[in-house]
Amino acid sequence: MITKNILVTGGAGFIGSHLVKHFVHKYPDYHIFNLDKLTYAGNLENLVEIENELNYSFLRADIQDAKTINELFLKYKFENVIHLAAESHVDRSIINPNEFIYTNVIGTINLLNASRFNWKEGKHLFYHVSTDEVFGSLPEEGYFTELTPYSPHSPYSASKASSDHFVMAWYHTFKLPVIISNCSNNYGPYQFPEKLLPLIINNIKNNKPLPVYGEGTNVRDWLWVEDHVAAIDLLFHNGKPGENYNIGGKNEWKNIELIRLLCRIMDEKLGRKSGESEKLITFVTDRAGHDLRYAIDPSKIENEFNWQPSVDFETGLEKTVEWYLLNEEWLKHVTSGAYQQYYELYYKNR
Ligand code: NAD
Ligand code: TYD
Repeated sequence: MITKNILVTGGAGFIGSHLVKHFVHKYPDYHIFNLDKLTYAGNLENLVEIENELNYSFLRADIQDAKTINELFLKYKFENVIHLAAESHVDRSIINPNEFIYTNVIGTINLLNASRFNWKEGKHLFYHVSTDEVFGSLPEEGYFTELTPYSPHSPYSASKASSDHFVMAWYHTFKLPVIISNCSNNYGPYQFPEKLLPLIINNIKNNKPLPVYGEGTNVRDWLWVEDHVAAIDLLFHNGKPGENYNIGGKNEWKNIELIRLLCRIMDEKLGRKSGESEKLITFVTDRAGHDLRYAIDPSKIENEFNWQPSVDFETGLEKTVEWYLLNEEWLKHVTSGAYQQYYELYYKNR
């Protein structure tokens, strides 16, 4: 018997596809409706293993389209939302900020409105998946906590910060039950190869230059994607409406050190001479407005829910590299056509 109808948005993307598979397998009594526009970043190949499950449905739709979203709420009676759909890449937000406003801000407001007008009685939750980038940039010391003031710097982070504010406004003004989580950089299988890790893995494999922005001294805090999904599962079921929670891996790496580590792992896996892949490292013009450091203090989720990352970084990186080497077809599909144009346009003059 189905006990909950859950609308997941963006479930064909990187994190969303892990989350949808996790929920479909773990909760046979929930029906998961995966709503996705299938932009360049969404891919049904990420979901093959669940496509015939009885508690799963895919709906192709655009969250920018308020009318369709409302019709789908009326038709399927979603009781809960886990909202991940977004334009998610900082570099693309520098090239074309408008799409980030339409999807991340307007799209989120459309979902908030549909939830508000369709949820008259019963138990509901609007779970908004957000990023630590809303807090801006840290110097070499200190951590983001749930109380850190918002200070987004990129069009991407500004659009996510804006959507977070609208989510909280719907909680305070209209009493919509909401939870927000702000997570650090995720890594793992199925990540689109415009983001640092899969881009570097793919370039090493193809003997292409490894573009390091600036001096490579920027720091990111990396978390295994399934650990993020486990945290969302915990908070979805046990979190307190109206609260925000930070999720992070306590796993800070300077970009250049991470890239060198990946080179060593890849040399070993590809049977190359030690030091061979590092020769591909190329320092390129820095990203505009490049945030120096992100680092999360996850004490709140650790103390309240006993959540901890389960996968150490070396193991996670090995698994990630192995996945990309095994899934050559997937990589080929997502890097054909539009990806080539993006790559050439963006990296040509750096
Ligand atoms: P992604 O780019 O891999 O996937 C985004 C998905 O959203 C794609 O399937 C795409 O087709 C879909 N989408 C885009 N626009 C849409 C629209 N208008 N209507 C419907 N669907 C649309 O992103 P991701 O890395 O999986 O991130 C998912 C969420 O998690 C985002 O909200 C992002 O801000 C947040 N987040 C990501 C990270 C990270 O490291 N990747 C970290 C923290 C938070
Ligand atoms: P990215 O994966 O785009 O995530 P975010 O900017 O959201 O943290 O980038 C991670 C870091 O890697 C960031 O500091 C920018 C840097 N970077 C490069 O040095 N070269 C690249 O080609 C890319 C895509 C990113």
